Amino acid sequence: MNNKKPEDLILVIFGATGDLARRKLIPSLFALETLDLLPEKFAIIGTGRTKLGDKDFRKSMKNAIQEFSKEKDLSRLDAFLGKLFYQTADPAVTEDYQAFGLYLETLFQQLGIEKNNTIFYLSTPPSLYDIIPKGLAIAGLSKENKGWKRLIIEKPFGYDLASAKKLNAGLKKNWQEHQLYRIDHYLGKETVQNVLVTRFSNGIFEPLWNRNYIHHVEITSAEVFGVGKRGGYYEASGALRDMVQNHLLQLVGLIAMEPPASADADAIRNESVKVLQSLRPISKKEVGSMAIRGQYLGSKMKGKQVKGYREEVGVDPASKTETFAALKFFVDNWRWGGVPFYIRTGKHLPTRVTEAVIHFKPTPHHLFARKGSCDNCNQLIIRIQPDEGMLIRFAMKTPGAGFDLENVSMDFHYSDLSHDRIPGAYERLLLDCMAGDPTLYARIDAVLAAWKFIAPIQSAWKNNPKIPVYGYPAGTWGPDVADRLIEEPELTWRHPCSALTSDDNFCTL
Ligand code: BG6
Repeated sequence: MNNKKPEDLILVIFGATGDLARRKLIPSLFALETLDLLPEKFAIIGTGRTKLGDKDFRKSMKNAIQEFSKEKDLSRLDAFLGKLFYQTADPAVTEDYQAFGLYLETLFQQLGIEKNNTIFYLSTPPSLYDIIPKGLAIAGLSKENKGWKRLIIEKPFGYDLASAKKLNAGLKKNWQEHQLYRIDHYLGKETVQNVLVTRFSNGIFEPLWNRNYIHHVEITSAEVFGVGKRGGYYEASGALRDMVQNHLLQLVGLIAMEPPASADADAIRNESVKVLQSLRPISKKEVGSMAIRGQYLGSKMKGKQVKGYREEVGVDPASKTETFAALKFFVDNWRWGGVPFYIRTGKHLPTRVTEAVIHFKPTPHHLFARKGSCDNCNQLIIRIQPDEGMLIRFAMKTPGAGFDLENVSMDFHYSDLSHDRIPGAYERLLLDCMAGDPTLYARIDAVLAAWKFIAPIQSAWKNNPKIPVYGYPAGTWGPDVADRLIEEPELTWRHPCSALTSDDNFCTL
């Protein structure tokens, strides 16, 4: 993490009383305060339709920090809360932006901040992503005449290819690309960034990182919880838009990309976008067999009855929205020609885990008899969360007469690095935006390439009633039919978790 303090600035959070701000943004900013990484002169203005004063906002954010922050040291809590302000404003009312601009100007003066560097964070429903930037621009708040202005836009950036293009075109009327920070919080995860370091600063992996040695690549992002109170949002989203179009495809970009010419933002983003542009389109005819969708059914999870998706608050009782998606696809380029990529994600799966597994090809000749299939024997597992780390699996001789083999693991856990804590994704990304570093933010060409790839799936799932939404009991690994995506008989998805600890939501590497 960049450990230099950014220039003085004010951060404005639209939707400051919402879930994301309470759970992630404010606790992450507090973590930066604790690490002494916030600018010398700094303020956070929460804004939204809710009528609140500074005092009430501070109280509510104090509760949020107490509930969601991982910081044990709360000695700087009061100092941090003193940097919070609240201004009621209705995003739909043009005059409110003028008034907001005046308020902002006054606060800059009060704090003695010379340049009016400002970050506007859109933590609102996506329907406001075009309205707020326009309102800010009309009030002159996008102009970089006396300091920079940056806009952080939460996902989803559009709900399909056409709407993403339209949203972007609208933004570009008033904002320039260097001002736009499209957030994909997976890119801020320490272990996701470590994919780049593992690949490009070790000599041993890169020579093997291609179709000659890799059999297939598998990525799983499983969540133990259902949609909870987010049924309303999720109905219009589903797993494909919520997780695949952004987080999982960004991960594919990093795993599959060519070595960048340098470590700067453009060089890295240039290479990862090429991967997304090389994804072989899944034709409408293929969707039924290459893209599996599922929906969780009411069931007992760890002894507790949980609701089926259709019984959740805000969900249509006849909903066809998928809470599970599994895809098989190919990256059509020289490095990956013919190597299948399998990705899956779902809610109410047995545990919370995100990992990428590189399955290497078996030896061309099996010199030693094996008890099971050899195909699974060499795997590199990159564990994104939890128990962040890496593991290599390979065959060893079991002691004694003969040549009996066993698969063993060599593992590294981030938790063994006692000197450092793993910064949360939002900490890293907020700090990067303050420092003007967009490397870990999604560039528009990547966002559009990802929408383009999933467009035929979206369309077939919407329009072809013959493609089933398979039910799966909550607490299982999704519909059985997803297993058949991996066509070779001895192969299957890796079922992570060598062991579950007492915390059922903590799957060890
Ligand atoms: C969000 C999705 O982007 O990512 C959520 O909207 C999902 O539905 C979340 O739960 C998963 O993030 P993480 O960091 O917990 O893996």
